[in-house]
Amino acid sequence: MALSMSLSYAAGGGVCLPSGESQPCRRGRVQILPPLRRGYRGSFAVRGESGFGGLGGDGGNVEPDLSVRVNGLQMPNPFVIGSGPPGTNYTVMKRAFDEGWGAVISKTVSLEASKVVNVTPRYARLRVGSNGTKGEIIGWENIELISDRPLETMLSEFKRLKEEYPDRILIASIMEEYNKSAWQELIERVEETGVDALEINFSCPHGMPERRMGAAVGQDCALLEEVCGWINEKATVPVWAKMTPNVTDITQPARVALKTGCEGVAAINTIMSVMGINLETLRPEPCVEGYSTPGGYSSKAVHPIALGKVMQIAKMMQSEFGDKGYSLSGIGGVETGSDAVEFLLLGANTVQVCTGVMMHGYGLVRKLRDELKDFMRKHNFSSIEDFRGASLPYFTTHTDLVRRQREAIEQRKAIKKGLQSDKEWTGDGFVKETESMVSN
Ligand SMILES: Cc1cc2nc3c(=O)[nH]c(=O)nc-3n(C[C@H](O)[C@H](O)[C@H](O)COP(=O)(O)O)c2cc1C
Repeated sequence: MALSMSLSYAAGGGVCLPSGESQPCRRGRVQILPPLRRGYRGSFAVRGESGFGGLGGDGGNVEPDLSVRVNGLQMPNPFVIGSGPPGTNYTVMKRAFDEGWGAVISKTVSLEASKVVNVTPRYARLRVGSNGTKGEIIGWENIELISDRPLETMLSEFKRLKEEYPDRILIASIMEEYNKSAWQELIERVEETGVDALEINFSCPHGMPERRMGAAVGQDCALLEEVCGWINEKATVPVWAKMTPNVTDITQPARVALKTGCEGVAAINTIMSVMGINLETLRPEPCVEGYSTPGGYSSKAVHPIALGKVMQIAKMMQSEFGDKGYSLSGIGGVETGSDAVEFLLLGANTVQVCTGVMMHGYGLVRKLRDELKDFMRKHNFSSIEDFRGASLPYFTTHTDLVRRQREAIEQRKAIKKGLQSDKEWTGDGFVKETESMVSN
């Protein structure tokens, strides 16, 4: 199954349109940005689907439309419950629908839950305050496995949810061992419940790789190609491949997944981590009977890493898969509307949240929606497609940055901005000189 990306960005959109010099924006701000590529429309449009032509810019009084259509799935907003504890049973998934999440991805299920044995404690947090005090939670490690609930139970809950919420999007996250008939049996049984799509967990970094599952497949392109082949031969609903960031080049498995028939890519799963060592006991955290094992890192601290990986995948999809209707789901450290907007600006169709829900509850979606709307109103965007992928063209190589800077300096010879060369640093003005070269 397949989607597309086509990036174009019509002149007159709600963003500032500077041409290398200061220009007042519609809202009175002044920005200096590289020239916008006129005639370039930034979005990853779903193949053959509408809602791709509108542009922000004339909709100052229009209420922003947050709805998205992805791989044929209609969602009221792009905010999706990411696979994990927030999608672990009927009660919590129902809660997510009631609170207004755009879609729900279940906790990952497999055929034999009895093989899945979780331990407690299984989480550890990184808190950062000023001057070394323990403050805000910015990082979260888990050594939780996939669902340990019987598959039959999970399936009956999926069915019940789809009966009660036929118009809402329920996506089953699935994982199996390296065995074609097991994968295909799981797909058949899960699809029978009426779920709208499948997300394949090729990315769990702990526990499951010991059984040749999860990241063990996502980190091996040959295995991935074979397993995606089995999956896409069987699946009749859209398939998203969830990628692990624990690889050298995330575009390689993403490319394999799309080439072998997946409709979309989701990134990222957690980053392999060790949260820390207790300096009293000298034992690692989270500590289970005195021992630990490396786990998966999530929450705010992983957001920049996730943006980097999503940007790389989006660039690859844009250049190699063009307008074929593939989708991209951004995941990692989302707690605010701004965090989510960043993924959308890189070309993501949807944005998943897992740890954010564990910390702030299901009502978080109201804040995300409000903040997304505020952003859209500020820029006069009336739909997500008006700005999706708009920031992607502004990633380039370092060599190109050097060339652009050289040209820009030549153009504004009279305006001295930042240091022209390292010999200009001084001791007294060091902090100010540093500030003069910071962009945000
Ligand atoms: C406690 C916990 C359990 C998770 N379980 C799963 C899982 O079963 N399947 C899966 O694909 N991802 C799982 N994840 C990964 C999340 O879906 C997500 O990819 C990752 O945590 C990054 O997003 P976040 O910062 O919003 O949590 C889990 C994450 C956490 C924190």
